[in-house]
Amino acid sequence: MNRLMDENVFPEEYFRRADESPDGNFYLAPRFVAHIDPETIEALTQFYREFVPLKADVLDLMSSWISHLPEDQTLGRVAGLGMNEEELVGNARLTEYVVHDLNRDHELPYAPSSFDRVLISVSIQYLVKPVEVLSSVRSVMRPEGQIAIAMSHRCFPTKAIAAFHSLSPRERMELVSAFLFEAGFEEIRFVDQSPATGDPLWIVLGTVPLELNL
Ligand SMILES: C[S@@+](CC[C@H](N)C(=O)[O-])C[C@H]1O[C@@H](n2cnc3c(N)ncnc32)[C@H](O)[C@@H]1O
Repeated sequence: MNRLMDENVFPEEYFRRADESPDGNFYLAPRFVAHIDPETIEALTQFYREFVPLKADVLDLMSSWISHLPEDQTLGRVAGLGMNEEELVGNARLTEYVVHDLNRDHELPYAPSSFDRVLISVSIQYLVKPVEVLSSVRSVMRPEGQIAIAMSHRCFPTKAIAAFHSLSPRERMELVSAFLFEAGFEEIRFVDQSPATGDPLWIVLGTVPLELNL
């Protein structure tokens, strides 16, 4: 059992949202749009080129029609999990997809030790139980696997948790680092990959311990 389940590590009000209605309604219609500027997408793609080893099995969590992975990078399985089927069908990088609401069910529909890398791009602010979700993510990753949680400064305001409205960018990075710590990741660190122009790109990274302590 992790610490969050033992005690309330984070204030409950952090996780309130202006729109508490089921996420399925909000994501019913596809949005074939980019959520960050082209320069920022390019910076993220360049980051993934280094971060994701060749032939890695990858999970793109909170995925849409675009995963930002380099087109020429040979990968193994690329699984996408998100809320809108049309967007996921339209994502040419995915080898498989599933529609799954992480705010209703934080358990991931994958076998243990399935993935080498997990990506969460400009979406962590929509999770109301991030530690539970990230604990589940950790359990489907291989030992020494890594997660990259990329963030910027845009969001769907009514669906983002209150903490992302009230905290500064630095505090948000610290909060997401704390989510990873509580979920059992180690070697947690922050890298600023913001391009010279365009939306900022802040990435928090974590590693699955060699000895899985489930
Ligand atoms: C701002 S978009 C980002 C999409 C994509 N990762 C990107 O980088 O462009 C937010 C994504 O989070 C996903 N999402 C939001 N709430 C979710 C939930 N409750 N469960 C699973 N995915 C969710 C949506 O499907 C949507 O694709």
